[in-house]
Amino acid sequence: MDYGPTSASELKHLQFERLRASLAHAYANSPFYAQAFDRHGVSPQDLQDLRDLARFPFTTKQDLRANYPFGMFATPMEQVARIHASSGTTGKPTVVGYTADDIRMWAGLVARSLHAAGVRPGMKVHVAYGYGLFTGGLGAHYGAETLGCTVIPLSGGQSEKQVQLIGDFKPDAIMVTPSYMLALLDEFRRQGVDPRASSLRFGVFGAEPWTEPMRREIETGFGLCATDIYGLSEVIGPGVAQEFAGDGMPTIWEDHFYPEIVDPETGEPLPDGEEGELVFTSLTKQALPIVRYRTRDLTRLMPGDATPMRRMARITGRCDDMLIVRGVNVFPTQIEEQVLACPALAPHFLIELTRPARMDEVTLFVEGRPDADHGLCAEQGRLLAHRVKEVIGITLRVELRPSGTLDRSVGKAVRVRDLRQIGSA
Ligand code: DLL
Repeated sequence: MDYGPTSASELKHLQFERLRASLAHAYANSPFYAQAFDRHGVSPQDLQDLRDLARFPFTTKQDLRANYPFGMFATPMEQVARIHASSGTTGKPTVVGYTADDIRMWAGLVARSLHAAGVRPGMKVHVAYGYGLFTGGLGAHYGAETLGCTVIPLSGGQSEKQVQLIGDFKPDAIMVTPSYMLALLDEFRRQGVDPRASSLRFGVFGAEPWTEPMRREIETGFGLCATDIYGLSEVIGPGVAQEFAGDGMPTIWEDHFYPEIVDPETGEPLPDGEEGELVFTSLTKQALPIVRYRTRDLTRLMPGDATPMRRMARITGRCDDMLIVRGVNVFPTQIEEQVLACPALAPHFLIELTRPARMDEVTLFVEGRPDADHGLCAEQGRLLAHRVKEVIGITLRVELRPSGTLDRSVGKAVRVRDLRQIGSA
C-alpha cells in the first residue's frame, strides 16, 4: 500500500508544492476565494513557506451556506461528477462537489485507511454507513472497491436484516458509526446469535465522537479489531485520517489535507501538542478546494508513528457540542466514559437539559443491561451521578430506563436534548 512520502522532508516538500498549486487554483477559479484573498491582502505568491499559510483567511460553514448550493465550486459544473451534502441540524445543508479525479483521490485514501485498519484485498466489507448525500456510505463503498474488496452495501437501518446478512455473507470487516455498531450488538443478542462467533474481524468506525471504553465494549462484544476513521464532508468525507490497527490515534493523510490547530476563540495558530480547533486546507482537491476550514472539532496534533504524517488525538468533541451547565464546560464524550465505567448499565444514554427555574438542570437517561439486576442498576445509577459530580463537576439526576427503550440512531447518535430555550420561554 502506498502510504505517501516516507520521510518528513519529502512530505514537507510535497505539501509545499501542492499547497502552492491549490491556493493558485482557488484564487484563479473560485470567485469566493479571489475575493476573500483580496480582502485579506494576500495572494498565492505570498506563500514562501508552509508557515505562511497562517496569513490566509479561514473558511467556515457559514461561507459554504452563504454560497449555497454551488457558489464555492472552482470547476465548471460539467466537470463536477458528484455532489454530497451534510445536513447539519439547522438551516441549509452544506453542499460539496467532486470531479472524477477528486473521487479517485478520495477512494484511494479510503482504501489506504482500510489497509491501515488491517483490511486486505479479497476481503468482504459490509458498509452500514448511510448511502445518499451523506459521504459515509459512498465514501466507504468506493474505498473498499478500490482496495479490491467485495463490498456489501447495506446502508444504515434494518438492524434485523443487518444481523442476518452478516451471518449469511460472512464479511471480514464492517464500516459503521460506533453507536450503530452497539445497536447491532444488541440485535445479535436479541436474536440469540453470538456476536463473537460472527465472521467480523475488523471494524472501521467514525462519523461521531467515541471513547476508549466504547472501543473496548465493541472489541470485546464482537471479538474484532476496532479502529477510528475521521473525516468531514467539507474536507472530502471519511478518510481524512485513519488509525493504524493498535495505534490508538488516527494518522492524518497530510499529503492531501494540511492540518493546523488554532485557538477556537482567537483563531491564533497553536503549536503541535496543544489542544484547539482543527483546521484543514486541501492540497489536491479540484472541484472544491478548501482553505483553512474551521472544523469546530477539538483535538491535538501529535508526531507521526507508522509514517512521517502527524496523528491527531481522539476528538474530545465539537466546539458546538460543548454544553455549558451552570458555567461548567462538558462534552458528551466525558459522560460516555462515566456511563461505560458502570458494568450494569448499557452504553446507550441521552443527556437532557432543562431550565425549570433560573438554573440549568441535567437529567441523564440510561438503560440497565438486559440481564442486570434492577437493584444493582439503581445502585450504579447513583454511583454514576456521584462520579460525574466528582470527575466532571456537574450535578445531574440519573434516570434509569428499561432496556431497549432509549432511541437508537442508525447513523450519528443524538446524545443531547436541550430543552432550556423552551423551558425558559
Ligand atoms: O461524518 C464523514 C465520515 C463518514 C467520517 C464516515 C467517518 C466515517 P460529516 O457528516 O460532514 O462527515 O460530519 C463531520 O463528524 O467534523 C466530526 O465532528 C465528526 N466526526 C467524523 N469522524 C469522527 C471521528 C462525516 N472519527 C463531523 N471521531 C466531523 C469524532 C468524528 N468525530
